[in-house]
Amino acid sequence: MEKIRIIDSKKHVGETVQIGAWIANKRSSGKIAFLQLRDGTAFFQGIVVKAEVSEEVFETAKSLNQETAVMITGEIREDSRSKFGFEIGVTDIEIVGESKDFPITPKEHGTEFLMDNRHLWLRSSKQHAVMQIRNAIIYASYDFFAENGFIKFDSPILSGNAAENTTELFETDYFGQPAFLSQSGQLYLEAGAMALGRVFDFGPVFRAEKSKTRRHLTEFWMMDAEYPFVTHDESLDLQEAYIKALIQGVLDNAAFALDALERDTDLLQKYIDTPFKRVSYDDAITLLQEHEADEDTDYEHLEHGDDFGSPHETWISNFYGVPTFIINYPASFKAFYMKPVPGNPERVLCADLLAPEGYGEIVGGSERETDYDVLRQKIIDFGLDPKDYEWYLDLRKFGSVPHAGFGLGLERMVTFVAGTEHIREAIPFPRLLNRIEP
Ligand code: 4AD
Repeated sequence: MEKIRIIDSKKHVGETVQIGAWIANKRSSGKIAFLQLRDGTAFFQGIVVKAEVSEEVFETAKSLNQETAVMITGEIREDSRSKFGFEIGVTDIEIVGESKDFPITPKEHGTEFLMDNRHLWLRSSKQHAVMQIRNAIIYASYDFFAENGFIKFDSPILSGNAAENTTELFETDYFGQPAFLSQSGQLYLEAGAMALGRVFDFGPVFRAEKSKTRRHLTEFWMMDAEYPFVTHDESLDLQEAYIKALIQGVLDNAAFALDALERDTDLLQKYIDTPFKRVSYDDAITLLQEHEADEDTDYEHLEHGDDFGSPHETWISNFYGVPTFIINYPASFKAFYMKPVPGNPERVLCADLLAPEGYGEIVGGSERETDYDVLRQKIIDFGLDPKDYEWYLDLRKFGSVPHAGFGLGLERMVTFVAGTEHIREAIPFPRLLNRIEP
């Protein structure tokens, strides 16, 4: 008899098969038991009819606890009443692993309780759906980069210098000398771009940010891309195509997960079909000032030169209703490696992409400074030691070319596409300001 996975049911209608699964939920009457089965690929229903099975099998069905692992034998049938469309008519049940008093029941639980039980909470249908969306985004990302000629170039996680800023570094002892957990692979990718052309990396990065918000993790996954002989405008075109490809990948490969989360897929389709908005930082500040007295706004007044808070970002992205690039921020609150806007040294050639619906910044990118002396001076001005960046400065000595790149925060993207409220649900085991377990 063939052992199949729930997701493959449609290929086995009318066949008697075996499925290894867990009991997500169960209800039974005197004559029939309904088993909500899950095997990681999907959830579907097993029907046990007393009159059609041995007494022993029916008694086993009635006794099953939440999360007991079972090997089910039965016939796959179409089930037009369920969203999944198929069910299994159970003929035999073998208990593989008992479960008693599973702490997460179908009733409501508090967030801290769920977070303490994250290792078990991952089994819920909602968390299952979010992880499937995460997976679809990762695969779509690899596909996009492969189709566009990018080479995967792995940057190190342990580093001798800061990629972004020194205030958010996790420091560790590296055989008697300080080392830092990577904040972004970008600087190494720049070396990769000069060796291999279009490159990308995808790995965990770390920020000792003391922010307790629904958008911040201290460990998250970043996809950085870097490419030579491009300007920042050209880079924006690629970023837009990339984000659209990721959303499309989820619509194509994880539609069931979007459905389980009741995500508005028409809205996601609109983000694919509509050009993203591009607004300069200064125009965005002016726009905010023009609307600050509006009845439905509640953000603080900003002057040109101030950084946005999350209420400002939310307002701007809602105003346009599509993902919006904010371009050319003040140099003062961006990283040292960004190239100034020609004729305006106060502003840099960079963009943050704000997701609509209040999901905040999902991508940060820029054109990089190419001049050795300018870059060296900027490193000093930012309070960094040029000695730590000698290898990085070398890239400007030997055939320096215009180049740009960007980094996507995977969990921000997952939160946005899945439409979940908090970033902690977008990663299997979130690391937050107050949490490193489980
Ligand atoms: O804008 P950031 O800081 O850009 C960089 O690190 C560049 N070196 C990337 C590059 O040009 N290659 O971070 C990039 C993205 C942000 O847009 C955001 O999505 C995400 O990383 N991010 C976070 N995600 C979760 N928790 C945090 N604490 C994050 N900080 C940034």
